[in-house]
Amino acid sequence: MRTPDTQSPQTNPDAAAGTAWSAADPAAHAEDPRATAFAAAYPVRPVPATGTLDTSPIAGTPAAEDLDRLWKAVVEETRSRGNDIHLPISLAYAERLCRAYPEADAEVVRVAIVLHDTGWAHVDESRILSEGFTGDWRKAAIRFEHETEGCKVARRVLPGLGYPDGFIARVCEIIDGHDTRHVAFSLEDALVRDADRLWRFDHAGIALASSWFAMTPAVYTDRLAAEIIPELITEAAYAMGTADLARSNALLKTGVIR
Ligand SMILES: [Fe+2]
Ligand SMILES: [Fe+2]
Repeated sequence: MRTPDTQSPQTNPDAAAGTAWSAADPAAHAEDPRATAFAAAYPVRPVPATGTLDTSPIAGTPAAEDLDRLWKAVVEETRSRGNDIHLPISLAYAERLCRAYPEADAEVVRVAIVLHDTGWAHVDESRILSEGFTGDWRKAAIRFEHETEGCKVARRVLPGLGYPDGFIARVCEIIDGHDTRHVAFSLEDALVRDADRLWRFDHAGIALASSWFAMTPAVYTDRLAAEIIPELITEAAYAMGTADLARSNALLKTGVIR
């Protein structure tokens, strides 16, 4: 069982609110029966992998090409807030996680991670840093807005690509609340949440995200170790994040350049 959430509201703005502690804290998901059912179904945390576990550098396994039509439909949305770096890398991580958890609906996970932050393109960009990254960011109005707008993007682009209504509803259910909901409510939701965090452990993610927060790479990787690793829900994500962090720290010489 995990210990209580230790993240700092000011240093973990993109990743969703802590979910890893949910199994140890029934009160955290008391209002959401979906989350309660998920916690009961997966009482061991991090959730043990049932499939293939790959901790090699993510650049070796870029995402599959079968979602390229979806990418084309949201190119404009990828131009906001580093999405053209964050989203494809997170998709590659999500696909790995799906191979580690073959019981999950990989199509839902993959489409949800591609679209989850597209809503940032439809909110007032000047408010992203002023509201979304400071203070109690979890409750910042702009956080809810980017989730709502992301669902609108999903409902706009997915029908024309042949996705049925039920599938779109499941994708939107994950996008809606991916940052502001406190707990995961399904294995698919958990894999999206982990993929949303894992991209930061790759050196490309460290480069981009540390600059957002005006942190040195050393300070940022320290935060990853202290605050984001404990939030990971699945065993596969934990293994991947830990391996990536060790490689990135060595590559960027964060032990020396600090
Ligand atoms: Fe987000
Ligand atoms: Fe994200």
